[in-house]
Amino acid sequence: MRFENKTALITGAASGMGFLTAKCMAEEGACVVLADINQEGLDKAAAEIGKTVPADRILTVAGDVRDYAQVVATKDAAVERFGRIDFLVCCAGGAETRLLGQYGRFHELPIDVFDFGIDLNLKGPAYFSHAVLPQMQKQKSGVIILLGSITGIEGGEGSVAYAAAKSALMNGVVKSLAMLGAPHNVRACCVAPGPVLTRAAMANMKTLLGRASEPQEIVDMILFLCADTGASVTGTTFLMDGGRNVMINKE
Ligand SMILES: NC(=O)c1ccc[n+]([C@@H]2O[C@H](COP(=O)([O-])OP(=O)(O)OC[C@H]3O[C@@H](n4cnc5c(N)ncnc54)[C@H](O)[C@@H]3O)[C@@H](O)[C@H]2O)c1
Repeated sequence: MRFENKTALITGAASGMGFLTAKCMAEEGACVVLADINQEGLDKAAAEIGKTVPADRILTVAGDVRDYAQVVATKDAAVERFGRIDFLVCCAGGAETRLLGQYGRFHELPIDVFDFGIDLNLKGPAYFSHAVLPQMQKQKSGVIILLGSITGIEGGEGSVAYAAAKSALMNGVVKSLAMLGAPHNVRACCVAPGPVLTRAAMANMKTLLGRASEPQEIVDMILFLCADTGASVTGTTFLMDGGRNVMINKE
């Protein structure tokens, strides 16, 4: 029970790694705030976690990470209900071409596709960090976890915003948050996966180990970093890509 008397606010918590992080933290004692744009998904996620965790430790808040007013409202709801935020885990994100169903090369797609990708993948985690950091400073403790991606290292011809945003989270953003947080005992770390089987199609992305990661493998790192085991870690990115970054032939 590593997270007893702790509160975690998790974005993108209706599915994938966000959901699994919320479930694992709740099962280890945390109060969890599940934030997502998908209300139906949130209801399902809360019901699933509620099978093993008391309902009074689960709060769902529907909202869009691209809207700062909604981000602040989510943070306020978390603090009002549980009194504190120990962990902010920013999982909401995804490649703009996939999410908008507009495939093609960057310069051949409408500029709105790029804007959407930056708003979701860069501004979303930055907005949440901006809203939550003062609360963590007041508490004199907290951990912020950002989700990067191997695409932030490799780039890509379609989702340039996704690649740019993930690069930024893995370097400038996580390092800046670490500097801002350190005097207040607040840490910031980034976990950057290669392919993860939250979607079956990710199995097609090559890795040196010959397989994609299981969501639980990535979530275990998030839990390690949030718990006392990660107490000396801040300002750094953990690449968990099955060795894809050292492959020469990725086709
Ligand atoms: N799955 C992978 O292979 C992989 C690889 C590298 C990085 N990542 C990163 O890990 C994170 C989680 O990935 P996943 O596969 O578990 O994701 P997922 O697609 O299963 O879940 C993302 C969640 O974010 C929510 N969301 C989308 N737009 C939102 C918005 N505007 N406001 C609030 N919520 C919104 C969705 O409703 C969804 O529930 C993402 O940031 C992703 O970029 C994933």
